[in-house]
Amino acid sequence: MASVTSSRPYHIIIFGATGFTGQFVVEEVARCAAESPGGGSLKWAVAGRSRQRLEEVLKQAAGRLSMPELRTDIEIIVADVSIEESLAIMCQQGLVILNCVGPYRFYGEPVVKACIANGAHYIDICGEPQFLERMQLEYHTKALDRGVYVIGSCGFDSIPADLGILYTQRQFKGTLTAVESFLKISSGSEGMSGHDATWQSAVYGFADSGSLRQLRKKFGHKPLPVVGAKVKKRGFMFFSKEIGQYAIPFMGSDPSVVKRTQRFLHEEEQQSPVQYSAYVGVGGLFSVVKLLCGGLLFWFMVKFSLGRKLLTMFPSFFSFGLFTKSGPTMKQIEDTCFSLTFFGEGYSEGTDPTQGQPNAKICTQVIGAEPGYVATVSAMVQAAITLLNELHSLPRRGGVYTPGAAFHKTSLIDHLHNHSIKFSVRNYQ
Ligand SMILES: NC(=O)c1ccc[n+]([C@@H]2O[C@H](COP(=O)([O-])OP(=O)(O)OC[C@H]3O[C@@H](n4cnc5c(N)ncnc54)[C@H](OP(=O)(O)O)[C@@H]3O)[C@@H](O)[C@H]2O)c1
Repeated sequence: MASVTSSRPYHIIIFGATGFTGQFVVEEVARCAAESPGGGSLKWAVAGRSRQRLEEVLKQAAGRLSMPELRTDIEIIVADVSIEESLAIMCQQGLVILNCVGPYRFYGEPVVKACIANGAHYIDICGEPQFLERMQLEYHTKALDRGVYVIGSCGFDSIPADLGILYTQRQFKGTLTAVESFLKISSGSEGMSGHDATWQSAVYGFADSGSLRQLRKKFGHKPLPVVGAKVKKRGFMFFSKEIGQYAIPFMGSDPSVVKRTQRFLHEEEQQSPVQYSAYVGVGGLFSVVKLLCGGLLFWFMVKFSLGRKLLTMFPSFFSFGLFTKSGPTMKQIEDTCFSLTFFGEGYSEGTDPTQGQPNAKICTQVIGAEPGYVATVSAMVQAAITLLNELHSLPRRGGVYTPGAAFHKTSLIDHLHNHSIKFSVRNYQ
């Protein structure tokens, strides 16, 4: 593992540790530190804008994990996004900053800047393509020059999709040319929900979705070549035989992140890019009607500032209880799980992918516990530990990357598999 020093004493600093997600990250890091060889060799600290709330978080984690030492042994760093100097002092003390302060479009950039300026690697769980792509556009060269890795979307958005595609490519014997993924989330009797900050990220992300096209033009990328038969996109809503329910295109950051990874692997490693379409199951006809009504209202309201104000004031009402100010209950979290199934096609070994139709198929699956907080924090913490342990396997010597681009030569998939996100090959149905 990368070594800490007296002037940079922490491997990991959890910034935003008082947030709904941050508190889960604290517990996950505490568990991993206790498991690490030599016990306690992983040095970590918590950071946020209120010492008192951070003390509360450590007290709560100490009680929940039966680890009283967390209250006395874990350092607290007070840092506020709006106070540059406080971010600099935080970033000078850690090898990796786990940034849990979102929505990232409002709070993320000063943290990325401070990490680059002060030599700390940066990992977040952002699911906002505008922020992720803008950070790549504006900070890749600066991060590369400073030898700092900035790796966004290391949560449920978008590690299962991004690494799921890499896994599928590796398992396929030949040239994989296209993949469709289907996300299914199952919950228990109390249903599922997400916390308000994710809803806010979605509201402001959709409101600003038009800016993505202009942002992408600034990269000046050539279109990625289409290898093999071009895949037709499905309609806005359709019945999926693959998952036995209605499905719609997945609106999160997965397609954007996967495409950036595929571009990186094509340009840097001369790999054949995969065409990717992501869908999510929405359930039966009743859910379809509910989604159509809610979706139309949402699309209309995000366009106006008053609409956005109302959406963010009453998340539970406008999301039919899917997002709440208090976040999911422990029971909801314990009873929820996800599966992401990949249906891929391509050309078997020895066949030319530029000739004829695909002649081979593959089905793989990534499954895990509750996506928003359990799978997300596990993915984030495993990404950080992999960065610390396998720094030499990351690309170049720094830069802004997707998880797939950053970790494609590391053992992150194996670590995730040994924790809470499992990767497997399935029979193609
Ligand atoms: N990728 C995924 O699958 C995934 C899953 C879960 C969450 N997320 C994302 O993670 C982010 C956090 O979500 P959450 O539900 O944990 O949000 P949250 O509960 O609202 O937490 C926000 C955190 O940011 C801190 N914060 C706010 N303003 C700050 C400032 N000026 N300086 C320093 N800290 C500040 C808050 O500190 P105080 O306690 O002091 O207010 C709190 O710790 C969101 O963007 C969400 O979309 C992504």
